[in-house]
Amino acid sequence: MCGVVGFIGSENTAEILFNGLKTLEYRGYDSAGLALCQNNSFHILKAVGKLENLLREMQKNTSLDATMGIGHIRWATHGAPSLANAHPHISNDGKTVLVHNGIIENYKELKADLSAKGYRFSSDTDTEVAVVQIEDELKSAASFPQAVRQAMQKFRGAFAFLIMNKDNPQMLVAAKRNAPLLVGRGEKGMMAASDVPALAGHVSKFAYLDDDELALLSPQGMVFQNAQGSVFTKPLQVLSLSQEALSKNGFDHFMLKEINEQPAIVRSLLQRFLVQGKIVMPSFNLSAQEIENLTKIEIVACGTSLHAATVGKYVIEELADIPVEVEAASEYIYRKHPKNNNILLIGVSQSGETADTISAVKLAKQRGAHVLVLTNREDSSLVRFADSVLGLNAGLEISVAATKSYTAQLMMFYLLALYLTQERKTQQHDVLQKLQKNLMAVPVQMEEILADTKSVQRCAEKYAKAQDFIYVSRGVNVATALEGALKLKEISYINANAYPAGELKHGPIALLDEKMPVLSVLMPGSPNYDKLLSNSQEAKARHARLIAVTSARDKNLKSLFDDVLQVPEVPEILSPLTANIPLQLLAYFMANKLGRDVDKPRNLAKSVTVE
Ligand code: M6R
Repeated sequence: MCGVVGFIGSENTAEILFNGLKTLEYRGYDSAGLALCQNNSFHILKAVGKLENLLREMQKNTSLDATMGIGHIRWATHGAPSLANAHPHISNDGKTVLVHNGIIENYKELKADLSAKGYRFSSDTDTEVAVVQIEDELKSAASFPQAVRQAMQKFRGAFAFLIMNKDNPQMLVAAKRNAPLLVGRGEKGMMAASDVPALAGHVSKFAYLDDDELALLSPQGMVFQNAQGSVFTKPLQVLSLSQEALSKNGFDHFMLKEINEQPAIVRSLLQRFLVQGKIVMPSFNLSAQEIENLTKIEIVACGTSLHAATVGKYVIEELADIPVEVEAASEYIYRKHPKNNNILLIGVSQSGETADTISAVKLAKQRGAHVLVLTNREDSSLVRFADSVLGLNAGLEISVAATKSYTAQLMMFYLLALYLTQERKTQQHDVLQKLQKNLMAVPVQMEEILADTKSVQRCAEKYAKAQDFIYVSRGVNVATALEGALKLKEISYINANAYPAGELKHGPIALLDEKMPVLSVLMPGSPNYDKLLSNSQEAKARHARLIAVTSARDKNLKSLFDDVLQVPEVPEILSPLTANIPLQLLAYFMANKLGRDVDKPRNLAKSVTVE
């Protein structure tokens, strides 16, 4: 999604803005731009495509030496990626310039009113309407910030704005509603951005703006105003993002670095929640009685988080004996929900900024559900609607393809299921103890997989030319198949579909021939294993090329499957934690082999802030 960055101070503004935009690249974008204020005039540079194209524009303008500026990366929503639609956008009189993350939902009505007043528009964007609206408000407002506040009252939707006005050359206005925006104070000046990484290295202290707040940045400091224009103070927090979190740390890609961080993340979650043989969750604000009274759990999420939720459903139902419904957040918000008290609604989101998930959580809250949020960003918008929060603590995930956050979500669901089970006393003590012991072994088992990735690499080389892929499994690993297929699609652009293996014969089997690889996730220890072997035989009979991800040491597998990716033995219920790693690596190596932009796949955004 879009990202904004702004700076006012004594350093080379263009460079600071460009580097800030680089750190926001992970959000996904298709054009970029800067507006620099120098000697009271604006210089606007834009480019379609990657930031390198914007850099080329900057190199043509090396004489620019601005002390205030705003920058933007755009992920097209209203209008194609083009120079006309790229931000910054400028008012008709050329005096006000603005960058925007979010969507002004009522922009069509506003545009019609402004057009009737004689204003002209040169882009298809909702953002240009915002800057022209501010221009119009400036005619009646006593000050630039007041014009921004007046305009904000007319906007519906989401926005994080950075705005400059020629008549106020010492002021950069930051304002927001329903989209994240941070402001920070550094030695060389003040900064604002959509996310923390853009501030790192320039700012020592920062604050998140709340909805309908403004920050007026000057080279000397910042002043906060509320929607009525009253000035207030806001505590600043120390910015502690390490350079290590922002670097690839010797890996070729962030995705590979993040895959390799997974054992440590699992270990630290276990240390945090497993204390002397008991699961402790102090931030889960339901009493034992309320947990006992729960009649249903609903889980809403999108994409990879939805797959983690699917594992969560399986594990909670299996252990804690509570009915669980999992639904794509984008569907949850558009259907009727029969009245039901004693519901726990779990919203799962790596970023905590996914618009669909936020809307679903808001809806559930209105219905009176207790809202538990599982997120990697405890500073995110989603957290504001939560009654309880479980932070994933997986560290900043930069690669657009979610990997370590998925593993952290899985782990959190296992811990939550164990906690609910412990509180509801639905399993024998020794069952819980055994599962805890098995969970404690997982980090080392993950390390084993990561220590030798040659067989996955060979497999990736062999199948990289495939046009399509099918992933199948049964039981708890249907989610693993779904997630593996999503990962492959996202970063290699190979069409990959996942099914419960039993569904193969109800249609998808028609696709099978010698060109179609079918990957099965099959773990011994349940009837699923034998059933999956039969399903694999059926695929083999149609000449499909077969790959297995398994912990079985059965020699006969070699005669059925063309390739076997071995994982360590874990109880089937925990196997999504280990089985997923070869699938992440397979997608990674295939995408790399195909020369794809692994960390920044086309068309995708890290946090999807539109519904
Ligand atoms: O930040 P969230 O977990 O809410 O994001 C949900 C999806 O947009 C996200 O998982 C997406 O599917 C990723 N690109 C997966 O790799």
